[in-house]
Amino acid sequence: MKISVVGCGYVGLVTGGCLAEIGHQVVCTDNDAAKIETLQAGKLPIYEPHLDSIVEKCGRAGCLRFSAQPAEAVREARAIFICVGTPPLDTGDADLSAIDNVARLIATESRTPKLVVEKSTVPVHTGQQLKRALAVYGRHPGVTFQVASNPEFLREGTAVGDFLHPDRIVVGVDDREAEKQLREIYGPILDQKFNCPVHERTCPSAAAPPFVVTTVNSAELIKHASNSFLAIKISYANAIADLCEKLGANVEEVTRAMGMDPRIGPQFLRAGLGFGGFCLPKDIQAFIRLAERAGADFSLLKEAEKLNRGRIDYFLEKTRRALWVIKDKQIGILGLAFKANTDDIRFAPAIEIIRRLLAEGARIRAYDPEAMEKTRQIFPAVQFTENPYEAARDADALLIVTEWEQFRSLDWNRVRELMDRPLLLDGRNLLDPEAIKAAGFEYHSVGRPDTSPPLT
Ligand code: UGA
Repeated sequence: MKISVVGCGYVGLVTGGCLAEIGHQVVCTDNDAAKIETLQAGKLPIYEPHLDSIVEKCGRAGCLRFSAQPAEAVREARAIFICVGTPPLDTGDADLSAIDNVARLIATESRTPKLVVEKSTVPVHTGQQLKRALAVYGRHPGVTFQVASNPEFLREGTAVGDFLHPDRIVVGVDDREAEKQLREIYGPILDQKFNCPVHERTCPSAAAPPFVVTTVNSAELIKHASNSFLAIKISYANAIADLCEKLGANVEEVTRAMGMDPRIGPQFLRAGLGFGGFCLPKDIQAFIRLAERAGADFSLLKEAEKLNRGRIDYFLEKTRRALWVIKDKQIGILGLAFKANTDDIRFAPAIEIIRRLLAEGARIRAYDPEAMEKTRQIFPAVQFTENPYEAARDADALLIVTEWEQFRSLDWNRVRELMDRPLLLDGRNLLDPEAIKAAGFEYHSVGRPDTSPPLT
């Protein structure tokens, strides 16, 4: 099918690349001409595992193009996936102006019937507004629009695998025809019949995902309800961590056993610096606003959000307690991205932590395998290092802020020798307290007993 994807951010690029990979003719477009130029030159503006090879391969095969002409891209397509950003406004509401602009573009440019698929995360009733906008601004009599909601459940860092082997495909539709077209679009994924670029073969054991058909309103709500639930789960684990610290228990032991109950499940119970990134924090805020406007009491969400905001304060307080005075201290930061396997620093705990440490007069050296370029633009005063060891050099304290796997297996004896004081604050519970104590560190993590070698 000829498909246009409007918006070349994370969601748009993964959606466009994967739809091309499973056999569609895809044009990705964006009103950011510089971004399209980068993409046309064969470079990706984001780091997402496997996406570069998909884009390269599909580009060469002629089934994936990038166009700086949104109008043309819209006119050519049978189905249009809206993947533009919905960033938070100061009120916490989602800013839907980009969706509104795309709706007008589709309405005015379309000469043939279109299936318009909402992929961006939007508050419930956006589909209704979209439908109205398409009808109001439509310029060509007889052109019909079907509107569907097809929320994405992609995690940054594993987005390609998530798209191609999803645990569910949710489509919110008003009529059978839209459902039929979406079944056709997702056909290869529903059958799991394609050469998977993640595993470089067909994945015979991959389960066929359920195709969940709902109303448009329900589909929109499913996305916000899912992300908010994940956020609540993380905040719950963090509340347990605080309790463990106060009562002398170990949060890892507690959440591990909790997660063995299939009704609870082991995922998203990792205590630490809380949830960051461009999705969970903004989605929970938007959901709170939505509930308020609807007159529903959802104070549970507000509490989860409040708990999350407190995580950085708490971690910095721990740092302060261990270091005593922050001013003029040399601090090493390991990890800048909001989580591992991405270069995304939007709402990343590291950004807030660095901002506050600098404000208190600390000197900072930082390392991240992927996110240094983006962070450099925000903090000219920070020294970015070539490797994690250089971040530790002369440091009075080293802070682990992102759970990159490579930090787990550093040569900790070498790190200790490089530091002025062997003080380690692990915001992600990445290391084994006993092993790190044996390596000679004073070690503070989250919800687990602190350890330190005896002072000599
Ligand atoms: C999230 C959802 O997981 C996806 O299902 C959803 O599609 C996506 O948002 C979206 O709305 O587009 P993502 O933002 O990539 O995906 O990140 P997550 O893997 O959910 O992690 C979010 C944050 O929670 C990270 O800062 C992570 O470090 C933190 N986290 C996660 C914890 O603190 N503890 C955990 O146990 C898990």
